[in-house]
Amino acid sequence: MSVPATHKIAIVPEPGGPQAIRIVERPLPALAVDEVLIKASACGVNKPDTFERMGFYPPPPGAPEGLGLEAAGTIVATGKDVSQFDVGDGVCALVTGGGYSDYVIAKAGSALPVPENLALKDAAGLPETVFTVWANVFEAGALKAGETLLVHGGAGGIGTTAIQMAKAQGARVLATAGTTEKCALCERLGADRAINYRNEDFESIVRDLGGADVILDMVGGAYIQKNINCAAFGGRIIQIAFLQGSRSEIELMRLMLKQITLTGSTLRGRPDAEKARMADAIRDRVLPWIADGQLRPEIHATFALEDAAAAHQLMDEGGHSGKILLIP
Ligand SMILES: NC(=O)c1ccc[n+]([C@@H]2O[C@H](COP(=O)([O-])OP(=O)(O)OC[C@H]3O[C@@H](n4cnc5c(N)ncnc54)[C@H](OP(=O)(O)O)[C@@H]3O)[C@@H](O)[C@H]2O)c1
Repeated sequence: MSVPATHKIAIVPEPGGPQAIRIVERPLPALAVDEVLIKASACGVNKPDTFERMGFYPPPPGAPEGLGLEAAGTIVATGKDVSQFDVGDGVCALVTGGGYSDYVIAKAGSALPVPENLALKDAAGLPETVFTVWANVFEAGALKAGETLLVHGGAGGIGTTAIQMAKAQGARVLATAGTTEKCALCERLGADRAINYRNEDFESIVRDLGGADVILDMVGGAYIQKNINCAAFGGRIIQIAFLQGSRSEIELMRLMLKQITLTGSTLRGRPDAEKARMADAIRDRVLPWIADGQLRPEIHATFALEDAAAAHQLMDEGGHSGKILLIP
C-alpha cells in the first residue's frame, strides 16, 4: 500500500475554545521499528482532548504532535520489529498524541485487532475508553462477577463502556447521569439502575441497594465523601478525573471502618510496555465481548476532521451520550 509524504493533524497554536483548533499538513514522520502506520477510517474525540485544547492537560514528553488519543483503520506500513500485525490488517489503537489525522502512527503494542463484526470506523471509539476502564475498574478495582459497580458519568464515553464491560463481567451496575434520556441510555446498555443525580440522591440509593464494591468516579468534589459513604465493606474507589474539583474536606472514619481503598490513575503517560501488557489482557478478555455482541462503542455523532472544532463544541456543551468521532 502506498504511504504518503504528508498527513493532516490537528494542532492548537494558542490554547482556547474550539475555534483554536487548526488542521495543518505536516511531513509524515519516519516509523520507528516498533510502530505501525494506520490509514485512519475514524478518530475518537475524548474529554481530555478538550482539556489539552484549553491548555490544562499538556502532552507527556515525546508525544507525537497534535490532538487525539485514538484512531482505527487499516495498517499501511509496519516498523521492522513488528511481528503481530501485517499491512492490510484492521486495527484500533491508543496513541499519546496525533490521533486526529488521516495517517496515524501508533506503537504496535498499543494496537488491537478489530473483530469482524465491528466497523473499522466505529472501532475508533474503543481504545481510550476500553484501556481506561480495564486499567481502573478491572485492574485497580479488581471488579468480580456478582459485585456491584457504581459508575458516575454513566452516559459519557467512559461510562457507556464501563457499563457494558462490567455487565459482561457479570457484575451489577449502578450508573449516574444528568438527564432522563441519559439514564435511559445507561439502562439500555445494561445498567441495573440509573440514577438521575439532578433529582435523586445517589448516596442513599446506592446504600439502600447494599453499597458499591467498586466506584469509578470522574466527578470528585462533593462526590468524594458521598462515594466513601455508599461504598460497600472492602470497596475500591478509583478517581480518573475531577470534573467538580480535586479539593474536598472529607471525613475518613468510614474509609477506615469499611476498609475502603481510595486510589486513582491516568493512562496517557504510562510506559509503552505497560500499555502493551494491558493490550494483551484486553485482547484476551475484552475483544471476545465485542465479538459476541456484549460490547459496542456507543456513537453519538461523527464530524469531518476539518470540523474538529464543532466536535469539541458539542463535547464542551455536554449534550452528547457516548462517543464523538472524526472522519478524516
Ligand atoms: N484518568 C484517565 O486515565 C482518564 C482517561 C480517559 C478519560 N478520563 C477522564 O474521564 C472523564 C470522562 O471522559 P469521557 O471521555 O467519558 O467524557 P464525556 O463523554 O464528556 O463524559 C463525561 C460525563 O461526565 C458527566 N459530568 C460532567 N460534568 C459533571 C459534573 N459536574 N457532575 C456530574 N457529572 C458530570 C457528564 O454526564 P451528565 O451530562 O450526565 O452530567 C458526561 O456524560 C473526563 O474528565 C476525562 O478527562 C480520564
